[in-house]
Amino acid sequence: MKVTVVGAGAVGASCAEYIAIKDFASEVVLLDIKEGFAEGKAMDLMQTASLNGFDTKITGSTSDYKKTAGSDIAVITSGIPRKPGMTREELIGINAGIVKSVATSLVEQSPNVILIVVSNPMDTMTYLAHQVTGLPKHRIIGMGGALDSARFKYRLAEALEAPISDVDGMVIGGHSDKGMVPLTRLATRNSVPVSEFISEDRLNQVLEDTKVGGATLTKLLGTSAWYAPGAAVSGLVQAIACDQKKIFPCSALLDGEYGLSDLCIGVPVVLGRNGIEKIVEINLSDAEKVKLQESAAGVKKTNESI
Ligand code: 2OP
Repeated sequence: MKVTVVGAGAVGASCAEYIAIKDFASEVVLLDIKEGFAEGKAMDLMQTASLNGFDTKITGSTSDYKKTAGSDIAVITSGIPRKPGMTREELIGINAGIVKSVATSLVEQSPNVILIVVSNPMDTMTYLAHQVTGLPKHRIIGMGGALDSARFKYRLAEALEAPISDVDGMVIGGHSDKGMVPLTRLATRNSVPVSEFISEDRLNQVLEDTKVGGATLTKLLGTSAWYAPGAAVSGLVQAIACDQKKIFPCSALLDGEYGLSDLCIGVPVVLGRNGIEKIVEINLSDAEKVKLQESAAGVKKTNESI
């Protein structure tokens, strides 16, 4: 199993590290445009192999896509991250050109690749990847909901004063501060609806804190987060590589599902060796349907910029 990660910045390098530590891939190629940067990160990561106990071979490349040839899965993290006060959508001017070039180069070297898009604004960048590559729609996946759901679970556990392993929850919709739809109605603590433990007001605070989870960290860090984004991507890569058939909220190209078409937005999907094996249409409440429609309108508005 060969995995390429384009962008050796904090998110890409974290993703490569988590993939290596999980040790399900034979090879990870880390690629960046900055001379020597990916090679350095790869070498540093390889020097943790004996310490962290993995056999995955990590190599680095400066802009040489031939070294990515034959990749089964490729992750696109390249582009600029947001600064405090910025929205993800404001990155489109620079990141659209980068994603277009990277996606094209990856597919040229690996026609059978499954692409995972992380670069922001992610739902629009995922849609762009479909436009420029023409890959079958099940082989292009946007990572946002897996990260947002992890932040949702973090906030739920905080509110419940519970261990995170006891908590479950999912965020669908656009990967944007205003467009996320945390499914508070379906969140559980060990199969019990969380509404049996915390008030509606406290649950609404969890919802709002989740939606700005990325912005909260960008304000604290001065740049976008990287540990949780990297870990979230590695979970998607593992589900595909190991044919796990797990359900994740991922940005997928819709063609009528949830009453939506011609956009990529976060919905539950089954991930396996073929990428998106199934788009899962769960029963949403009327309020949740309205929020998803509103989120989709926001994504489509951003899509107009590409
Ligand atoms: C985040 O929410 C980078 O969009 C990513 O942290």
